Amino acid sequence: MNKRWIGWPAVTAVLALLVLIASPAVAAKKSACIDCHEKVTPGIVTQFLAGKMGKTLDCSTCHGSDHKSAEDVAKVKLPSPDTCATCHPKRVKEYREGKHALAWTVMKAMPMITHQPSAVGGGDLKGCSACHKIGDKAATELKHYGSGACDSCHTRHSFSVKEAKDPRACRTCHMGFDHPQWEMWQTSKHGTIWEIEPTTGRAPTCQTCHMPDGNHGVMTAWGFLALRLPEDDKEWLDNRVTILKAIGVLDDKGQPTERLDAVKAAKIARLTKEDFDRERAKMVEVCSKCHSRSYAIENLRAGDEVIREVDKIFADSIRTVKALYDDGILTKPQGWKYAPDLLQFYEAKSVAEQELYLIFLEYRQRAFQGAFHANPDYMHWYGWAKVKEAAARIREDAERLRKEHKKM
Ligand code: HEC
Ligand code: HEC
Ligand code: HEC
Ligand code: HEC
Ligand code: HEC
Ligand code: HEC
Ligand code: HEC
Ligand code: HEC
Repeated sequence: MNKRWIGWPAVTAVLALLVLIASPAVAAKKSACIDCHEKVTPGIVTQFLAGKMGKTLDCSTCHGSDHKSAEDVAKVKLPSPDTCATCHPKRVKEYREGKHALAWTVMKAMPMITHQPSAVGGGDLKGCSACHKIGDKAATELKHYGSGACDSCHTRHSFSVKEAKDPRACRTCHMGFDHPQWEMWQTSKHGTIWEIEPTTGRAPTCQTCHMPDGNHGVMTAWGFLALRLPEDDKEWLDNRVTILKAIGVLDDKGQPTERLDAVKAAKIARLTKEDFDRERAKMVEVCSKCHSRSYAIENLRAGDEVIREVDKIFADSIRTVKALYDDGILTKPQGWKYAPDLLQFYEAKSVAEQELYLIFLEYRQRAFQGAFHANPDYMHWYGWAKVKEAAARIREDAERLRKEHKKM
C-alpha cells in the first residue's frame, strides 16, 4: 500500500514529461526565435504553433537566421512567393500563371497612380497597394512589408487551408466600388444557400467556380474590363474600338499604342479567341457539376449580351465627350497623352468626364458582374439603370458646355 503511494507521483511526473516532449509546441520551443518571440510577439508564436507548419518548421525557415536580438532586427528577411516555392512549387507555379501574380504590375500600369500621393497609391499598403500586394513583386518595390502575397488568403501565421477555402477569405478585396463580387454573390441564391448550409456543398463558393481543384491560377474569360478581341459582331466591335480609344490602347486612327503592350504583358484582356474560349469552357465545366450544360451555357451567353447592350450606351457617351475635344470645347489637360482618358479615373476634368468614369468603373462593372454572379439587382438597378442615368447627365452637360462655348 505504502509503496504504491510513493510510486504514483514519480509515474505521473514521467508521463507528464513524455507528453511535454511529444507536444510539438515544446519541441519547437528549442528555437531561440520562439523563445524570445513568445515575449516580443506572443500572438504570432501561438498562431504559428497551432498551424500545420508550426509542427515542423521554425521562424528561421522563412525569415532567415541572421537576426538574433532586438539590436539587429534590420537583418530579418521578409519572405516572398519564392520562399514558399522551395516547398510548395506546384501552387507557386499555378499562382504565377494566373491573374493574382500580375496584380502589382496592373496597378503600377495605371497612369493616374503616378500623380497620387505615395500614402494613397502604391506606397504604404493603405489604398490600391493594400489589395494589389497579392501580386508578385521585387522586394525593392516596397518600403518594407507586403512581399508575402501568399498570405493574402491563408493569412500568417496560421497559414490555414480551412480559412483559404472559406469565401470570406476573398471579400476584403473583391468588394465595394468597382468589383462587388462579395456583395453580389452573398445575396445571390448561391451565397444564400451557402449561408444556410455552409457545409453541404450544395451551393458554389468563389473557390468552387474560380479555383477548381484548388488551382491557384485565377483567370476569367472576360476579365475585369470585359474587353476581348477579336469580335465577330460588327456593331459591338465598333463600340469596343471606341472604348479602346478612350482607354488609350488605340490612337485616333485606330492604331495600337504603347499601352497595348502593357495590356498584353499584364493579361488585362483576352486577345485571342482561344484564350477566351479556354476560360469559358472551364467555367461551363464548373457549372455543369450541378446544372445542365445547356443551363450553364445559356446563363453565360445572357451575361455576354448584357456587356453588348451596356457597351452601346458606354460608347455613345464616349463619343459625346470626344466630340467636345474635337470641337475645341474641352482642351486636353496638361500631362495627358490622350483625351478623354478613362485610365485617369477620378482625375477627369469635366462633369461629363466624371460621369464617364462612373460608367467605366462602377455602373458598367456592376451590370455585367451582377449578370455573371446571378444577382439581378446588381445587374439592373446598380448597373444598367445607373448607366442610363449617367448617359443622360453626360448629354445634358455636353449641351451646356456647347451653349457656354457659343456665348464666349
Ligand atoms: C532576443 C530576442 C529575439 C530573438 C532571439 C529573435 N528575435 Fe526577432 N525580433 C525581436 C525584437 C525585439 C523585434 C522587434 C519587434 C518590434 O518591432 O516590435 C523582432 C522582430 C522580428 C521580426 C519582424 C521584423 C519587422 O521588420 O517587423 C521577425 C520576422 C523576426 N523578429 C523573426 C525572428 C527570427 C526568425 C528569429 C530567429 C532566427 C528571431 N526573430 C529571433 C527579438 C528577437
Ligand atoms: C511559412 C513562412 C513563415 C514562417 C515559418 C514564419 N513567418 Fe513570419 N512572416 C511570414 C510572412 C509571409 C510575413 C509577411 C511579410 C511581408 O509582409 O512582407 C511575415 C511577417 C512577420 C512579421 C512582421 C509582420 C507582423 O505581422 O508583425 C513578424 C513579426 C513575424 N513574421 C514573426 C515570425 C515569427 C516570430 C515566426 C515564428 C514563430 C515566424 N514569423 C514564422 C512568413 C513566415
Ligand atoms: C521548408 C518547407 C516549407 C516552406 C518554406 C513553406 N512551407 Fe508551407 N508547409 C510545409 C509543410 C511541411 C506543411 C505541412 C504539410 C502537411 O502536414 O500536410 C505545409 C503546409 C502549408 C499549408 C497548409 C496548411 C493547412 O492548414 O493544411 C499552407 C497553406 C502553406 N504551407 C503555405 C505556405 C506559405 C504561404 C509559405 C511561404 C510564406 C510556405 N508554406 C512555406 C512546408 C513548407
Ligand atoms: C479593395 C481592394 C482594391 C483596391 C483598394 C484597389 N483595387 Fe484594383 N482591383 C482589385 C480587385 C479585386 C481587382 C479584380 C477585380 C475583377 O477582376 O473584377 C482589381 C482590378 C484592378 C485592375 C484591372 C486589372 C485587369 O487585369 O483587368 C486595375 C488596373 C486596378 N485594379 C488598379 C487599381 C488602382 C490603380 C487602384 C487605386 C487607385 C486600385 N486598383 C485599388 C482590388 C482593389
Ligand atoms: C486567392 C487565395 C489564395 C492565395 C492568394 C493563395 N492560396 Fe494557397 N490555397 C487557397 C485555397 C482556396 C486552398 C485550398 C485548395 C483546395 O484544396 O481546394 C489553398 C491551399 C494551399 C495549400 C495546401 C495544400 C495544397 O496544395 O492544396 C498550400 C501549400 C498553398 N495553398 C500554398 C500557397 C502558396 C505558396 C501561395 C502563394 C503563391 C498561395 N497558396 C496563395 C487559396 C489561396
Ligand atoms: C489581397 C486582395 C485579394 C484577395 C484576398 C483575393 N483577390 Fe482575387 N484579385 C485581386 C486583385 C488585385 C486582382 C486583379 C489582378 C489582376 O487583374 O492582375 C484579382 C483578380 C482575381 C481574379 C481574376 C479576374 C480576371 O481578371 O479574370 C479572380 C477570378 C479572383 N481574383 C478570384 C479570387 C478569389 C476566388 C479569392 C478568394 C479565394 C480572391 N480572388 C482573393 C485581389 C485579391
Ligand atoms: C457560380 C459560379 C461563381 C461563383 C460562386 C463566383 N463567381 Fe466570380 N465569376 C463567375 C463567372 C461565370 C464569371 C464571368 C466569367 C467569364 O468571363 O466568362 C465570374 C467573374 C468573376 C471575376 C471577373 C470580373 C467579373 O466580375 O466578371 C471575378 C474577379 C470574380 N468572378 C470573383 C468572384 C468572387 C470573389 C466570388 C465570391 C465572392 C465569386 N466570383 C463567386 C462565376 C462565379
Ligand atoms: C455546387 C453546385 C452549383 C454550381 C457549381 C453552380 N450552381 Fe447555380 N445553383 C445551385 C443551386 C443549388 C441553385 C438553386 C437552385 C434553384 O434556384 O432552385 C442554383 C441557382 C442558380 C441560378 C438561379 C438563381 C435564381 O435566383 O433563381 C443561376 C442563374 C445559376 N445557379 C447559375 C449558375 C452558373 C452560371 C454556374 C456556373 C458559373 C452555377 N450556377 C454553378 C448550385 C450550383
